[in-house]
Amino acid sequence: MTGASAASAPILEIEGLRKTYGGNGFFVKRAGHVALNDVSLSLGGGRGQVLAIVGESGSGKTTLARIILRLVKADAGVVRVAGEAIAGGGVQTVNDRRLRQLVQPIFQNPFEAFSLHLPVEEYLVRTAINLGDEATARSPEATIADALSAVGLSRTTLAGKGIRAFSGGELQRISIARALIAKPRLIVADEPVSMVDASLRMTIVNLFRELSRELGVAFVYITHDLSTACYLSDQMAIMRHGEVVDFGVPDDILGSPKSPYTKALMDAIPTLDRRWID
Ligand SMILES: Nc1ncnc2c1ncn2[C@@H]1O[C@H](COP(=O)(O)OP(=O)(O)OP(=O)(O)O)[C@@H](O)[C@H]1O
Ligand SMILES: [Mg+2]
Repeated sequence: MTGASAASAPILEIEGLRKTYGGNGFFVKRAGHVALNDVSLSLGGGRGQVLAIVGESGSGKTTLARIILRLVKADAGVVRVAGEAIAGGGVQTVNDRRLRQLVQPIFQNPFEAFSLHLPVEEYLVRTAINLGDEATARSPEATIADALSAVGLSRTTLAGKGIRAFSGGELQRISIARALIAKPRLIVADEPVSMVDASLRMTIVNLFRELSRELGVAFVYITHDLSTACYLSDQMAIMRHGEVVDFGVPDDILGSPKSPYTKALMDAIPTLDRRWID
């Protein structure tokens, strides 16, 4: 592959993902709930691309995120990151260590990202040793310092403290640093600001934007909020009832939404105007 075509190869390709919860009872055949129905998406391979996924509660956003992170197994389909199959239904995929080097999560609740029992810094050191490259293995502290500095913190902030010593906003920032330690190609963030104090939300959203541009890491950013999705993303997918009903560049979707549902979402935001996307 030439340099130019490698650069333009998609960072994320999702093909034909399907997921049904429940169903197929042992005695009685039940239909089950179709959470994802033939979902296909892709995100270009330029530096730091952001794919926003927007949809109402129950539309399948978290199911999609958890399949990408291999926390839930799909019934069918495949997820590729930088050309490597990482998840899907019954396909040959990379091992767990490789998966975590390619993709890292940021959860809605940052407390989920850390150990309750270890000081935060010790947990970060373990992450660095488990997932880092050779340079990181030699000096995990340096990698951690770099990751913390990318989110505007330093190691002195951590100073032997456990997770309870931090506010939700601080801990979410540290969880973003944790996700950077493995130098992943893709970060999957599932409603990462919904539990953060409203006054800090925009700072964290802007941090994602900075990280994508400066470090070149790609993001899947899941939100209920169409305005933030438009502000942050290069590509946007609108989901409803387990299906992608609109997909493309935010500007194009807002200019001519394919689905009446997208139109309804837009109409629900009276202040949405060109300033959000220009
Ligand atoms: N473990 C599970 N078992 C059974 N059904 C589930 C499970 N997880 C999710 N579902 C169902 O699958 C559908 C999609 O759920 P999912 O959590 O992916 O939606 P979501 O878009 O993330 O919603 P929210 O915005 O509320 O987080 C919902 O109808 C949900 O009830
Ligand atoms: Mg969810």
